[in-house]
Amino acid sequence: MNVLSVASEVFPLVKTGGLADVAGALPLALKSQGISVKTLMPGYPAVMRVLKDAKLVMSFDDLLGAPADVLEVTHQGLDLLVLDCPTFFDRPGGPYLDAAGKDHPDNWRRFAALSKTGALIAQDGIAGWQPDIAHVHDWQAGMLPAYMRYSETPEIPTLITIHNIAFQGMFGADIFPFLGLPDHAFAMDGIEYFGGISYLKAGLETSWAISTVSPSYAEEILSGEYGMGLEGLLSRRSVDLTGIVNGIDAEIWDPETDINLHTRYGAGSLKSRAANKRAIEERFGLVESDGPLFCVISRLTSQKGMDLLAQEIDNLVEAGGRLAVLGSGDQALETAFHAAAGRHPGSVSVLTTYDEPLSHLLQGGSDAIIIPSRFEPCGLTQLYGLRYGCIPVVARTGGLNDTVIDASPAALAAKAATGVSFGPATADNLGRALRRAIRLYKDPDVWTEMQKQGMKSDVSWERSAGLYAALYSDLLARKGI
Ligand code: ADP
Ligand code: GLC
Repeated sequence: MNVLSVASEVFPLVKTGGLADVAGALPLALKSQGISVKTLMPGYPAVMRVLKDAKLVMSFDDLLGAPADVLEVTHQGLDLLVLDCPTFFDRPGGPYLDAAGKDHPDNWRRFAALSKTGALIAQDGIAGWQPDIAHVHDWQAGMLPAYMRYSETPEIPTLITIHNIAFQGMFGADIFPFLGLPDHAFAMDGIEYFGGISYLKAGLETSWAISTVSPSYAEEILSGEYGMGLEGLLSRRSVDLTGIVNGIDAEIWDPETDINLHTRYGAGSLKSRAANKRAIEERFGLVESDGPLFCVISRLTSQKGMDLLAQEIDNLVEAGGRLAVLGSGDQALETAFHAAAGRHPGSVSVLTTYDEPLSHLLQGGSDAIIIPSRFEPCGLTQLYGLRYGCIPVVARTGGLNDTVIDASPAALAAKAATGVSFGPATADNLGRALRRAIRLYKDPDVWTEMQKQGMKSDVSWERSAGLYAALYSDLLARKGI
């Protein structure tokens, strides 16, 4: 089976969050299911820089207003189709934001171009390769199924995966004439959304099937609290909606082989983590202590509940905990964390950078990772934490709920506990969970048992890749009907 995957970021080339990890790892996992995936992504400067021996497979004189090529290349085992369009993608800043941190003003055109290219490849094939299924990720690729739906050529089955419903790709109706779609596409059962246009809504409306990245989140988004306006549409389509939990790339995230660690270790040599803890203390300027070292590796946003943590830092330090924060995001939150570091020198430290190797070291040496998210479609850092013996302290929501087993008395007695979870996500509940984690840490036997249990959890892609493969097969069977 051939699958065209379309994503706006793909690890290791471009990453702003978990979407990149998934778009980079799932194709490799599907390979072992006998599925051949080619991934279409934009040719950002970071992508174009590493392309070697790329083959030109498609050319446009005018792709929504700009000349563009599609280049085929293999990079670290990933078969990529790169949309080389300097007008849209060769510029400073990140994939979505300019150097000043504002949305690129033509994001509507950039990602419509990506989707339109994907639709053409899906329908006509490319360089002798014909996809059977198009699998698109998030709003940036959401227009692909719509472009197919409103074209003359028959469509192929489509799956859209929601990684985060908070980002809906919303634009004014004034862009419609430039999208190259027939008038009837601007309708309630098409791409129209509250008088404007939403690329995510377009994808959810026109895809054959919808998935999201955990079973709990698949249920949550049917409610007004989590659906962010799309709960009605999703409820109407709920028979086509499934939740498949993300896995992790077990080669990149393996404490026994991880080159980013000061000292590598396995479940049988957890004491070696102490050397990684010392390395973190040095890097973050923290003092040594008997108490647990907590870490955060996150976007600093309200989705991630970082304001709740900011409120609880003083209590955490008072209870004997220390905190190393790696993350950036909302200015007010960055300021709050810096202020806390100022109040507690040696116990709280913040690095507002993006540092992939350091994120590995934090998982390999911290005692626990705090993830107090208000909503979390899946979450990857708790999965890395499980694999690295870094106990996740998480809000009981979405994928966090599906992957972490709380240290309840029953779970502890059954030796099943892998973390500490709390809900709903309030500062008080987080504070209680942190104090509970500190109490558990004080009993080394219990703590080590939890670490080992976590390290045994199946966080690999294998099971989930099988579920995607089954979903693809269902879609192909539907095509035959
Ligand atoms: P989201 O995609 O919502 O931000 P996830 O938990 O799915 O959340 O994925 C976040 C990814 O980004 C993880 O791989 C995490 O390790 C990484 N990450 C987040 N912030 C940083 C940072 N400051 N430095 C390095 N990696 C980070
Ligand atoms: C999104 C979600 C996160 C998920 C990631 C990958 O960024 O916020 O929960 O893990 O996508 O699916």
